[in-house]
Amino acid sequence: MKITAFGVNKEEKYYFEKLAQTKNFELVQTPEWVTADNIELAAGSDAISTMQTGAYDEPLFKKMADLQIPLLALRNVGTDNIDFAAARKYNIQISNVPSYSPATIAEFVVMTMLRLLRKTKEMDRAIEAGQLVSAQKMTGRTLRDETVGVIGTGHIGFTTAELLHNMGAKIIAFDAFPKKDAPDWLQYVDSLEDLLKQVSLVTLHVPGLKENDHLLNADRLALLPQDAIVVNTGRGNLIDTDALIGELQTKHLAGAGIDTFEYEADIEREIQSGEQPQESHYLALQEMDNVIITPHIAYHSMKAVENMVGISVDNIFSYVEQGTTINPVK
Ligand code: NAD
Ligand code: COI
Repeated sequence: MKITAFGVNKEEKYYFEKLAQTKNFELVQTPEWVTADNIELAAGSDAISTMQTGAYDEPLFKKMADLQIPLLALRNVGTDNIDFAAARKYNIQISNVPSYSPATIAEFVVMTMLRLLRKTKEMDRAIEAGQLVSAQKMTGRTLRDETVGVIGTGHIGFTTAELLHNMGAKIIAFDAFPKKDAPDWLQYVDSLEDLLKQVSLVTLHVPGLKENDHLLNADRLALLPQDAIVVNTGRGNLIDTDALIGELQTKHLAGAGIDTFEYEADIEREIQSGEQPQESHYLALQEMDNVIITPHIAYHSMKAVENMVGISVDNIFSYVEQGTTINPVK
């Protein structure tokens, strides 16, 4: 069996090489994202293993069909960057890794919330500028006095809710499909609007599919109580960034933590061409003391990487040996 892995980082390389030895498959690896321009590298492969926030588009699927590579095995959860109509047109199968380590992202959310509640960015900046006295006057908020709105209670949202509950926060949740076996402490509301009116912190854990575009738009952000904080580790398109910047500038919102950013692709392009990010929304947010921007990194722990590589390879073996993957994406 031959697998070509695209978008491979240093940690993934270690696990891929280990698995290629123990499971005895031929491995080609590259740090490059897969596109129609570099897919030739995978000629003769049974499948592609990949992880990227860039698009999987029609030209890519057409070339996969030409090269007779039937399977695109994602190493990640999100499928918002896939042109499914094109994949169907060229009969390309897709699998993902629906749960590689929800705790990795959940812990990152809790860390971001605590950083915002305790104003660590403002404090670090003051200390770096030698203004220790001003840093000493910064007052924080305690998580156990907060009411957190969890939007989406799937793998990651529920794990996040559990951690926050265990730290003493009150949890209110909204999901299109509420958990049937929800514990007592997880209170569901019937609408997103109901949730937004009642919470002091909100965290997003729904997919970035087209229908969730700007789920938090200007009208909905306006429903949040004074000094609420928004955290987004879901996908950038879930928040109308212009509206978010407006709510931060008027000081209606007390802060934001953005791991997944609406203009992530623009920044990625700038970084890849060796420039400092100049994207205007990024610059506006980055300069604010009460906004923490991280580069789509919430997922990145060793446990997560091990599972991402291992489960994506299991999907490929299952497809080659049994004609179907363990985690097909429809
Ligand atoms: P999941 O499929 O287990 O849960 C998603 C939940 O959202 C489901 O319960 C679904 O019913 C609900 N949902 C979808 N649209 C909704 C809507 N409009 N209103 C209410 N509920 C809605 O997914 P997950 O594993 O928890 O992951 C969630 C998202 O997190 C992924 O789709 C991905 O975009 C993102 N993610 C980000 C990172 C990161 O590093 N920042 C890592 C992994 C995943
Ligand atoms: C996901 O697993 O969906 C992520 O957001 C991780 C990212 C590196 C693609």
